[in-house]
Formats: sequence, structure tokens, C-alpha cells
Amino acid sequence: MTGEYVPGLEGVPATRSNISFVDGRAGVLEYRGIPIDQLAESSTFLETAFLLIFGHLPIKEELYGFEAEILSHRRVKYRIRDMIKSFPESGRPMVALQSCIAALGMFYPLKGMSSEEHAYQSTIRLLAKLPTMVATFHQMRLGNDPVPPRDDLNHSANFLYMLTGKEPDPRAARIFDVCLMLHAEHTVNASTFSALVTASTLADPYTVITSAAGTLSGPLHGGANEEVNDMLRRIGTIEKVRPYIEERLARKQKIMGVGHRVYKVKDPRATILQNLARELFDSFGYSHLYEIAVEVERVCDELLGPRGIFPNVDFYSGLVYEKLGILPDLFTPVFAISRVAGWLAHWHEQSSDNRIFRPTQVYTGEHNVEYTPLSLRSYA
Ligand code: ACO
Repeated sequence: MTGEYVPGLEGVPATRSNISFVDGRAGVLEYRGIPIDQLAESSTFLETAFLLIFGHLPIKEELYGFEAEILSHRRVKYRIRDMIKSFPESGRPMVALQSCIAALGMFYPLKGMSSEEHAYQSTIRLLAKLPTMVATFHQMRLGNDPVPPRDDLNHSANFLYMLTGKEPDPRAARIFDVCLMLHAEHTVNASTFSALVTASTLADPYTVITSAAGTLSGPLHGGANEEVNDMLRRIGTIEKVRPYIEERLARKQKIMGVGHRVYKVKDPRATILQNLARELFDSFGYSHLYEIAVEVERVCDELLGPRGIFPNVDFYSGLVYEKLGILPDLFTPVFAISRVAGWLAHWHEQSSDNRIFRPTQVYTGEHNVEYTPLSLRSYA
């Protein structure tokens, strides 16, 4: 069977799923049917992860049990720490994270467990250990000993603590927790598709998440928020915003942090993140970059809005992360410690009704070409 080739598979359904839903024209994002703004207002990252993975909001006992299990698996084996120590300190943190996730699979094989038990244990371990591995690499590249996790801190506060060595203000930790919720899932994007393909071969969950993390590492997927902050810095003052945008558009260059394949209105996550950025700056000090960002949004609304190009999730997230003390090259690993919840949810869903992915292609080459012996070949 041959079909029409669709570059980037735009609009081609790759799976059936009831995990998340996006209406790009109405600016709606739902996890298991619950609007993202309700979750951001009332949930926590771990509760949202449970919702995504197991399909329902947990009752108290389930949530406390889940949180306790994750807390008890935060530590990483000393051999993983030794491995991280041997990484070059100039190496990209996202590559370090991908290598660590792959290595986890060697320490926790299926052996002796039922596949259900292994699936559950792997889910807990991946959610629990990714933050520790990111923070451990960061501390070690600075020449420090890793900061051990603290059992009295929740998932988000503990990550910021391990990363910076300082206990975060509870308001900052809550804002970071909301950021993790906002990035946890977004239907079938490139990294989730990668997870699905690997899962469909029945590869183990650590390999599935390794594939997804590798796909996330590309600059067209994770990482635009880093470029937004660079852009705001280059612009420098509010007066220079309009000339900068006009000049880029005249040269047919893109403005970072705006535009989306699916959203044709402002990404609902960008609205929430903008409010969080404002809250952070009100509580912990002003950033002139925020004022510049607001002006960039105003000018882009005027010049690009009529074409359905508005701020996406990356527009304000870098500003929030920077204010929380997270370095730009850690923005994508932070994305991974959140999106792992969505990847795991899709892995569970794929495993429950699996068929190996084996798409087709439109062959554009020749046929029946005669083999030329080496001695007779030349470019002349
Ligand atoms: N600035 C200026 N023009 C834009 C922008 C932008 N940010 N985004 C799209 N356009 C224009 C394009 O120039 C193109 O115009 P044309 O038809 O005259 O050639 C038209 O809109 C369609 O653009 P595409 O790139 O084909 O749209 P697509 O849906 O494939 O791309 C994407 C979406 C990649 C996000 C794009 O908007 C972009 O590059 N934005 C900037 C990078 C960015 O912020 N990425 C993060 C996305 S969110 C995430 O991945 C987590």
C-alpha cells in the first residue's frame, strides 16, 4: 500500500490516545480531560504525573504511597555517580542525562519480576532519579560533591536544593512545580513519538526514555527558551524592540518563542508562565528582561498575530528558570525531568495495545542498476 508522503507527518495520526488533548484554535490543553489551568492552580507535579500515567486523579492513599515511593528512590547508585564523575565537565548536560538514563537500564533489569511489577518500579525510578542525575552532573561539573536529596523537601523543592545547594523559598519551589506540570505532556510531539516507536519494539522502559530524551535534545524541540533569553538580552532596551522585530521579519528570520505548529492563539501554557514570571519578579526582584519580553509580545501581536503567530510555552519559561537560578544549558534537562511523566504515560498506553511501528516510504531511487566492479569505477 502506498500513500501520499506528508513531510514531518504533519496532521497524520500516529496513535490513538486518551492522555492529553490540544485544541490549537481555542487555546485548550487538557491532561486526561482536565484543563491545564485547573491543574496549574490546584495540583502538584507528582499528582499530575500520577494522573497522566495511571489515568485518574489519585485518592489520598494512592497519592501518599506514590510520593513516598518516589521519595525513597531519589538516590542514585554510587556507580552511576562514578560514571557521571568521568564525564567531561564541558559536556552537554542533556547528553549526560541521556547516558545516565541508558545506564539505569543495566542496574534494573526485568529479571525475576513480573512485567507489571517491572513497569511500576521503572516508572517510579525514572520519575525519582532523573532530577538527581541532572543535579549530580551539574554539581560535579562545578567540581563539587553532589548534594544528597533531602527527605523533608518535596519533589520540586528537593531538585532546586540539589541543584543549587540552597533550600529554595517555598513560593519559588511552588512556581517551579507548576512549570514541571505545564511541560509534563503535550500529545504526540517528536520526543513522544520517539518513545512510542521504541516502546513498540518492546524495548525496556529505560531504553524507551533514553530514545525520547535524545529526541528532545535537538534545538527544534527543547531549547527555544534558551534562545529567547539571548534575544531579550541582545535587544537590551524597550525602545529597541520594534526595530529589532521589524528588521528580523524584513530578513525573513524567526522571532524565538513565538509560533507553534498546533496553537494559532497564545499557548495557554505561555499565559500561565507569564503570570508565574510576574509573581516571581514581584516577590524576588525586578528583571528588565521581563519588560522587554512584554514589549516583544505586544509588537509580535501586532505584526504576526494576524497570521496566528503568538507566544508559545518557551516565551516566558526561560525567564522563570533564570530567576530560579537554573543555568540555560539545564533548561532542556529540566524539560526532560518533567516530560518523563508524559513519555511514561505513552509507554504504558502503547504497551497495553501494541503493534510495532513499521511505516512505509516513497522510494525515489533507481531499479535494476548493474553492479560495477571496483576496478572499473571512476567519477570521470
Ligand atoms: N517568527 C516569525 N515568523 C514565523 C515564526 C516566528 N517565530 N513562526 C512561524 N513564522 C512564519 C514562518 O516564517 C512562515 O512564514 P511563510 O509562510 O511566509 O514562509 C509561517 O509562519 C509558517 O512557519 P513554519 O515554520 O512553517 O510553521 P511550523 O508550524 O512548521 O513551525 C515553529 C512552528 C517551528 C514552532 C515555528 O513557529 C518557529 O520556528 N518558532 C520559533 C521557535 C520556537 O519558539 N520554538 C518552540 C516551539 S514550542 C516547543 O517546541 C516546546
